[in-house]
Amino acid sequence: MQAYLDNSATTRPCEAAIRAMEACLREGWYNPSSVYKPSVEAFRRLREARENVLKPLRGSGCDLIFTSGGTEANNLAVLGAVTRMRGRQTVAVSAVEHPSVRAAFDALGALGHDVRVIGVDTRGDLDWAALEKAMDDGASFVSVMQVNNETGALLDIQRLHRTVNGRALIHVDGVQGYLRVPFDMKYADLYTLSSHKIHGPKGVGALAVKKGVKLAPRQIGGGQENGLRSGTENTPGIAGLSAAVTEMLDLGPDMADGLMAKKLRLIDGVRRAVPDVIVNGPDPAVAAPHIVNLGFPGVRGEVMLHALEGEGVCVSTGSACSSKKLKVSGVLTAMGIKPNVAEWAVRFSLSPHTTEEEIDYAAQKIGTLYGLLTRVQRR
Ligand SMILES: Cc1ncc(COP(=O)(O)O)c(C=O)c1O
Repeated sequence: MQAYLDNSATTRPCEAAIRAMEACLREGWYNPSSVYKPSVEAFRRLREARENVLKPLRGSGCDLIFTSGGTEANNLAVLGAVTRMRGRQTVAVSAVEHPSVRAAFDALGALGHDVRVIGVDTRGDLDWAALEKAMDDGASFVSVMQVNNETGALLDIQRLHRTVNGRALIHVDGVQGYLRVPFDMKYADLYTLSSHKIHGPKGVGALAVKKGVKLAPRQIGGGQENGLRSGTENTPGIAGLSAAVTEMLDLGPDMADGLMAKKLRLIDGVRRAVPDVIVNGPDPAVAAPHIVNLGFPGVRGEVMLHALEGEGVCVSTGSACSSKKLKVSGVLTAMGIKPNVAEWAVRFSLSPHTTEEEIDYAAQKIGTLYGLLTRVQRR
């Protein structure tokens, strides 16, 4: 038996995405910028994909820039927007962002901009007073994530919108939220999404940009994507992303409730097997429906991860890109969780395709392994 519970690292591409990519590679492979009929068709399909990806964001007043993924879209949003503004800016970012946002803010700091890092509490909620202060000090750009990739904490986007109150551009990293937690572009100027987190292919993502928002390109050349991201479009990847979006939407409005029920089932099962288990971050019932971070007292996260791997259960200790670094999670410590407790953390992340069998199997294996590992450590 296998249980793949690492869907925030990446998801299995769905059949619809694979079929759409294959059709594009075999028949629809023409350059969308050329002028003969098959290319005009390719251009039309690109436009349809753009509309399809924007639709769930209620993004009719927006453009969509296709990129190579969430990382590039985040870089374009942060660096593209702030370098387009004149002079030294005050900019604000939460303390628990993905490295693709945090590193972009570090780069802004190195360029001389005034970077305000806004802390969070143990539930992952923003220090709203600190954000208010940054706004009063003239912040012109704010970047936060919709769903935290390590804890599933949800940002109160409407409160953010009210707090900023038109004084700054708002960028939301929606890589872990898109299609699993509703979002409306009326609350943001820029929104990042990534295909491989929603059963599409890797190497594709997008930045939704509200009309009128000015960005400096990060990649220059032939002027594709409104001059904001030059390079011949990744048409097979984009076809795969669009097909994955359609398939996720076809799961219907109850999809998120189903995800939440499965997540709570996992937590219940683990609690029965390991009564001492700790939930790191917000109350799971009010967090994103697909991510939970659990701590197993006395057992290091990577020890549990590898023990579970031996039983066919895939999980992670934090974000995939940093989990090989064997460091205590910066996200958990920023939330005020003590390093020795953060060391026990394991992240479980579900997809609509996760089955109850996978969940029950993982919970049962966690119970057995926890007993074994704590006994070994006590000796
Ligand atoms: C919150 C968040 N933002 C950005 C990214 C980067 O996305 P990509 O892998 O498409 O570059 C990730 C990837 O895990 C993420 O979790």
